[in-house]
Amino acid sequence: MSADILTPVLSARWDTKRSWTLATYEANGGYAGLRTALGMDQAAVIEAVKASGLRGRGGAGFPTGMKWGFLPAPDGGPRYLVVNADESEPGTCKDIPLMLASPQLLLEGVIISSYAIDCHHAFIYVRGEVLHVYRRVLRAVEEAYQRGYLGRNILGSGYDLDVTVHAGAGAYICGEETALLDSLEGLRGQPRLKPPFPAVEGLYSRPTAVNNVESIASVPGIITHGAAWFAGMGTPKSTGHALFSLSGHVTRPGQYEAPLGVTLRELLELAGGVREGHELKFWTPGGSSTPLLTAEHLDIALDYESVGAAGSMLGTRALQIFDETTCVVRAIARWTEFYEHESCGKCTPCREGTFWLRRILDRIEGGTGTMDDLDVLLGTCDNILGRAFCALGDGATSPILSGLQFFRAEFEKHITGHGCPFDPAAAALFEYTSRSRENEVALSGAGTVGA
Ligand SMILES: Cc1cc2nc3c(=O)[nH]c(=O)nc-3n(C[C@H](O)[C@H](O)[C@H](O)COP(=O)(O)O)c2cc1C
Ligand code: SF4
Repeated sequence: MSADILTPVLSARWDTKRSWTLATYEANGGYAGLRTALGMDQAAVIEAVKASGLRGRGGAGFPTGMKWGFLPAPDGGPRYLVVNADESEPGTCKDIPLMLASPQLLLEGVIISSYAIDCHHAFIYVRGEVLHVYRRVLRAVEEAYQRGYLGRNILGSGYDLDVTVHAGAGAYICGEETALLDSLEGLRGQPRLKPPFPAVEGLYSRPTAVNNVESIASVPGIITHGAAWFAGMGTPKSTGHALFSLSGHVTRPGQYEAPLGVTLRELLELAGGVREGHELKFWTPGGSSTPLLTAEHLDIALDYESVGAAGSMLGTRALQIFDETTCVVRAIARWTEFYEHESCGKCTPCREGTFWLRRILDRIEGGTGTMDDLDVLLGTCDNILGRAFCALGDGATSPILSGLQFFRAEFEKHITGHGCPFDPAAAALFEYTSRSRENEVALSGAGTVGA
């Protein structure tokens, strides 16, 4: 496997000196796409994005051009583009590097996309905890205003656009598009009932396109090089280039930009493989809310259809790699802790379900679980999956259900061995404390344990 498979488009300028500045961006072909777009009809820009086959890079893979096409015809009132830069899913780490290294690429995408949907005020909703990204995007917006890419009469075209960068307060649920809109309006970030969808009634009840950072950053390339160029990469239904983020037990973790349909085996070869002396145990294809896969899935094409057929989801291409030293129960318990903490509490299945999932997993991990707990775990997941108000609840069940599917024996070992087999000290401690308890009970003459 050679590096030829890489398709650096979004990441093409990341190695250049002070890549985040407007001067560097322009010196490397930046804003050519905007000049082309401003010479096109707005409808033609939407058509180009449709023809490219670009699917949303925020997780669900919804076709971007089609989403824009759902906005009703302009009625003279405001219409908005909202860029989802909340990026909080465990393992997902592509939008933050993109905004740090190439914020002008995102802005060029914002201007072209806003022009296409006839929007004159766009918002970039950045996860508040990443202050350095917020500052970098703010500075990029400032530079773009100074150079006439934003504001009134952009590049003499007669088109006006303002951009507001908003820092969220740091909640995973605010990445869900309707919770994000509520948060942007100053309300508590909780998902809205759909329909109406944001395209019809979004920000301030006006037509709104909500798109992921990487989706919007892919637009300048499509306009500069053409829809056919983009559609020529990837697979027929999952076109184009995308960022694949390798993290965890891998020799060279990082961002690898490749066509959709590349396999984990190919990416791992580029990344120097699983860390030396170890082997792959399990991995997530698209963050912690996508079902786990194992070494038997190394050759699955990483496109929406193939990963779906394998029982998981492509999600955000957050490839978290775990070797044989990892306790799968412990990993799943940590993710579940995250979902319990981030559940917004609006609906009962998720609010109560994640609470109990965490407690049961803690018990199993700590060596006090029972075999019945495994059925309770499955039953609780069943009460959440498909019954929760938004996809956070479904996502919380993914690691547990797939973990039990592939590694049930490891869960059972925690129960029969009274602790984590990866941590012999835990089982020894259990033995010691149970013996002490039995002695205590015997000495007190209470008769039976637990009396
Ligand atoms: C709990 C939750 C968190 C999400 N977080 C993000 C996020 O951080 N960034 C993002 O782009 N999409 C996130 N999404 C998906 C968005 O709701 C939405 O589908 C996406 O922003 C649409 O953009 P796209 O069509 O360009 O992919 C999240 C969804 C859920 C349910
Ligand atoms: S599924 Fe969870 S995060 Fe989503 S609305 Fe219900 S409680 Fe909130």
